[in-house]
Amino acid sequence: VRIGHGTFDSLLAERPEAYVLVDSFFAARFADVPRTLLVEATEEHKTLGCVETLIGRLRDLGATRRDELVAVGGGIVQDVATGAASLYMRGLPWSYAPTTVLAMTDSCIGGKSSLNVGPYKNLAGNFHPPHRVVIDPMFIDTLPAEARAGGLCEAMKICFCRGPEAFAGYLQRYADFAGDPDTAPALLHHSLDAKRWFIEIDEFDRGERRLLNFGHTFGHALEAASAFAISHGIAIGVGVLCAERLAVGLEGERAAQPELTAHALQLVGQAPGLRERLDGVDPDHFDRAFLSDKKHGHGDLHLILPSGGGGVAERVLPRDAHVLDAVREARAEATRMVAA
Ligand SMILES: NC(=O)c1ccc[n+]([C@@H]2O[C@H](COP(=O)([O-])OP(=O)(O)OC[C@H]3O[C@@H](n4cnc5c(N)ncnc54)[C@H](O)[C@@H]3O)[C@@H](O)[C@H]2O)c1
Repeated sequence: VRIGHGTFDSLLAERPEAYVLVDSFFAARFADVPRTLLVEATEEHKTLGCVETLIGRLRDLGATRRDELVAVGGGIVQDVATGAASLYMRGLPWSYAPTTVLAMTDSCIGGKSSLNVGPYKNLAGNFHPPHRVVIDPMFIDTLPAEARAGGLCEAMKICFCRGPEAFAGYLQRYADFAGDPDTAPALLHHSLDAKRWFIEIDEFDRGERRLLNFGHTFGHALEAASAFAISHGIAIGVGVLCAERLAVGLEGERAAQPELTAHALQLVGQAPGLRERLDGVDPDHFDRAFLSDKKHGHGDLHLILPSGGGGVAERVLPRDAHVLDAVREARAEATRMVAA
């Protein structure tokens, strides 16, 4: 992983023959770059169908298994690029230049693809990490405030999961970044270093890495039940608030995490009109999406909640009316906390 201004131009210069898969937001910038494939970065395009189309386009353009793919975009481009690169002729090497704060602080390492299937978010996927990741902070300049804050929700979550020291270090670097955007590399590095611990000891998501799903069971359900009116990163920020409230509902005030809550509210508060979007969440759709999360078992619910000693732990709860009521109440409480 390389982080720094100018790294993106070097990547392209070093790979003049590469096939370039780009977020269509950058279409004008790549108009003269040969072998460019555009991807519209919406959840509707994060599908097996889109991966199939890209594989066909790579064949039409003459790509062989010795060629390299360079993907340029946020988490959606990354997800379809991972899928296409892993399947095309049984696997192409690829490089990734993340263009969103979310992808820079979180998804660019770890090697996962997550594809939506029908109404189900991130139901299908595999592992096929890029050979190199090049993080050029210049891409942050064009991101709207909501997208920046949403990406930082994932960084906040990773660092909280890693433990109190990593979380304190994150809050310090966040304050530096808020005062001076040129300090972005230190913040990005800190978050990726915290994530690195999880993926080095559990690359394939069987144990410790599952803890990074903190906020995600709620978050994915909020995204789906708002018809994706709530963006992924912001949904994770609200999901973290919900998970904290659920822990308090189940265990009492000793489970409260005031520092985490205050920071999450500060971040999600940068999403204009969020409270209206949360009020518009369809409760039945939310329940269905929450209960169909891929981490649950048949008879129980697997949730990542704040743990007493700092950090988080996996809790296995019965799939019954009492727990579902507590889940609904946690969502309602977190919604009320978000300023109207
Ligand atoms: N595979 C993983 O490990 C993993 C991890 C976390 C999230 N995700 C997925 O990532 C997706 C969210 O990704 P995201 O938040 O990075 O954004 P995104 O890819 O969804 O893009 C969001 C919007 O930002 C635009 N955009 C991208 N870069 C820009 C820039 N530099 N300036 C202005 N606009 C820009 C895009 O065109 C799009 O309109 C979700 O689908 C989520 O499930 C995947």
